[in-house]
Amino acid sequence: LFESKLELVRSHIRSFPDFPKKGIVFRDVCPILKNPAALAALTDLFEEHVRTSYQQVDLIVGLDARGFLFGPLLAQRLGLGFVLIRKKGKLPGSTTSVTFDLEYGQAEVEIQDDVVDPGQKVLIIDDLLATGGTLCAAWELLKQQQAEVLGCLVVIELLDLQGKNKVKPLPVFSLTHY
Ligand code: PRP
Ligand code: ADE
Repeated sequence: LFESKLELVRSHIRSFPDFPKKGIVFRDVCPILKNPAALAALTDLFEEHVRTSYQQVDLIVGLDARGFLFGPLLAQRLGLGFVLIRKKGKLPGSTTSVTFDLEYGQAEVEIQDDVVDPGQKVLIIDDLLATGGTLCAAWELLKQQQAEVLGCLVVIELLDLQGKNKVKPLPVFSLTHY
C-alpha cells in the first residue's frame, strides 16, 4: 500500500528540461494537485510519517509558495494549525526576516513575530529540497522565535545538490528523489 501510494505520487510529478533556465530540470508538482487520488496519497504518506516518527508536534510551518499547497492539508489531518513563512514584504504586523544565498543572488524570507510560541514543536513543509538554502533560512527564523524545529517534510529531494548536508542535523523526510 505504501509503495502504491508512493508510485501514485511519483507518477504525477512532471519534469521540464531547461526551465526556468538552461541546464535546470524543473520538477513540477502541479499534476499531483490536479489528481485527487494522488493528493490524498501524498497526504496519507506525510501523515503516516509524522504519526510514526514524532510523539508531539504543535504546528506545521509551510514555505512560500508551494509549501502552502500541501501544508494545510497535512495540518488538518493531524488536527494542527498551519503557519506561513513568506517571501519578504508580504506579511503584516511585526515580523522577522532572514536573508540567504541562492545559486545566483540573494533572497529573504519572513515570519510574523506572534504566530509561534516559544518552545512549540514545529515541522517545516515544502514541495522541494534543492540546495537547502530556503530550508536553512526558515529554520533560522524559527530558532529566533524560540520554536523547537523537529524536522522537515518535502515531496521532492534533488540529491545532486546535497541540501540534506546543508541542513544537518535537521532530519528531512523526502517522498521522492531525483
Ligand atoms: C523552490 C522550492 C523551494 C526552494 C528550494 O521555490 O519550492 O521552496 O526553491 O530551493 P533551495 O533548497 O535551493 O533553497 P522557489 O524559490 O522557486 O519559489 P516559489 O515556491 O515561490 O516558486
Ligand atoms: N526549486 C529549485 N530547484 C528546482 C527544480 N529543479 N524544480 C522545481 N523547483 C525547484
